Amino acid sequence: MNLLYISSSPVKSWLKAVHRFLPDADLFVWGQDDIKAGDVDYILVWNPPHGLLNTFPNAKAIFNLGAGVDALLEDQNLPRHIPIVRLVDPQLSAGMTEHVMYWVLHFQRHMHLYGRQKAQGKWLQHTPTNTQKRAVGILGLGELGQNAAHALMMMGFEDIAGWSRTRKELPGIESFAGDDELDDFLARTEILVCLLPNTTATQGLLNAKTLAVLPKGAFVINAGRGDLIQDDDLIEALTSGAIEAAALDVFRVEPLPQDHVFWTMDNVFITPHVASLTYPSSATKLIADGIDAIENGELPDHVVDLDKGY
Ligand code: NAP
Ligand code: GLV
Repeated sequence: MNLLYISSSPVKSWLKAVHRFLPDADLFVWGQDDIKAGDVDYILVWNPPHGLLNTFPNAKAIFNLGAGVDALLEDQNLPRHIPIVRLVDPQLSAGMTEHVMYWVLHFQRHMHLYGRQKAQGKWLQHTPTNTQKRAVGILGLGELGQNAAHALMMMGFEDIAGWSRTRKELPGIESFAGDDELDDFLARTEILVCLLPNTTATQGLLNAKTLAVLPKGAFVINAGRGDLIQDDDLIEALTSGAIEAAALDVFRVEPLPQDHVFWTMDNVFITPHVASLTYPSSATKLIADGIDAIENGELPDHVVDLDKGY
């Protein structure tokens, strides 16, 4: 069985993981190893050049090496007759939950203010809002959002809500669903955690109109995709104080251009798309399960719905 690896990330750990979890498979690196297009059985991919994935006539599935498939779906020539499988991995969820927890606690405990005060040599105490009463809202209550919500509950947050396309029945988490309930969700949310996929329906969803629905002094944490946010509108809200601070991990253009205003704002915290990284060992184990399903005539888990776009 031949696997083709298409990614700019180093292949070494993937080779090791394939050797362990798919001992009968050979992993070829696109652009480096010689393999005939017709001999490729499965494709492991992250951010491929457009048009490439359609050139492997016998490929049986495409495994995306991350949760978000937006970069794949932008390819107009993407093969639509084989499953495209996205990564749903407990380790990826754990990484995202750590990131979310870190920033929620950062804002909850006023660390953004103490950082500023240290630079001023200023000793001033701020009383944290009661954690049980702090309203956290998760925009995108999917695999990652639910995991983060549960961890926040364990941490003592009791006022947690999520927004998704379809309604969820999750003990302790208030579920808002669909466009009609977005404003109600935002209006009750003091710390907004964004974990939505990048689709035509979510692009620009956080804009002047929706940001204005959040309570004054709310916080925004975005680790979904940068296209969710209208940057100029967020900058204005952060400048006026309508939004107190933001922690951004993803951006419309990555790396974030040097001249972007976000770099200069002391209430914007920037991480370089590292909220949760893929671990080759755990991901390859899941890919091996998916391949096993296909080889047994079944559909693998987590096949992307091309119409929904995630
Ligand atoms: P997921 O399981 O597919 O969850 C997506 C959630 O968004 C679901 O709850 C879905 O609603 C909701 N949603 C999608 N479109 C919507 C819309 N138009 N209106 C309302 N809700 C909508 O995805 P995931 O695994 O949690 O990953 C989420 C995203 O995180 C990825 O797509 C990726 O962009 C990002 N990510 C970032 C990093 C990083 O390092 N920064 C790492 C991993 C992933 P339903 O439940 O009703 O379908
Ligand atoms: C990372 O951004 C992912 O989508 O897994």
